[in-house]
Amino acid sequence: MTTAPPFAPARVVLIGFMASGKTVVGRRLAQRLGWRHVDVDREIEKEEGLPIESIFAQRGEVGFRELEVRITPSISKLDRTVISTGGGWITNPGLFDGLPQDTLTVWLKVSLEEVLRRVAASGDRPVRPLLRGADPPGRLRDLLRSREPLYARAAVVIETEGRSVPEVVDTLERLVRGNRSAPHSQSSSSQNGS
Ligand code: S3P
Repeated sequence: MTTAPPFAPARVVLIGFMASGKTVVGRRLAQRLGWRHVDVDREIEKEEGLPIESIFAQRGEVGFRELEVRITPSISKLDRTVISTGGGWITNPGLFDGLPQDTLTVWLKVSLEEVLRRVAASGDRPVRPLLRGADPPGRLRDLLRSREPLYARAAVVIETEGRSVPEVVDTLERLVRGNRSAPHSQSSSSQNGS
């Protein structure tokens, strides 16, 4: 049974690994709720006038993380907003803890096997900068392992495996609207930041 958070969220922040569906789920959830959707990566690209790929190439991961840190405070104050973060956003110390209290944090959880399938299937989009090395599957495994404890800080965990985007969005919509139950049992919730 999924329980709604014990407060009316002013915003939802989606966290999770690459290819977990943060952008598409965020966009559709915002449409359902009649809220704004903000994607942190897209905001960085707009502000810098460069694609993420080029930002990584010019400034490295450290430079990219600095941009995430710089841009987040203005985005995370917005009300009636669904915010999709990049997969490594959670690794920036202080960003998660700095979210306003009335934020519903959600981890879109995905297994390594599913990430590998989804990354392989999205062959037409540019290679993700962090997967440019010699052993992308090994890199993905290490990154996922090191980040899972950080993602697990989210108030709500949604298993995305075997669930369609509309199913995930349904569950989240119910949670945000405060319904007491949801049709799927694969998710759980507790108070934000716990
Ligand atoms: C990153 C994930 C990307 C993007 C950047 C770094 C990461 O976002 O922010 O390439 O560190 O996992 P997605 O999770 O949307 O792919």
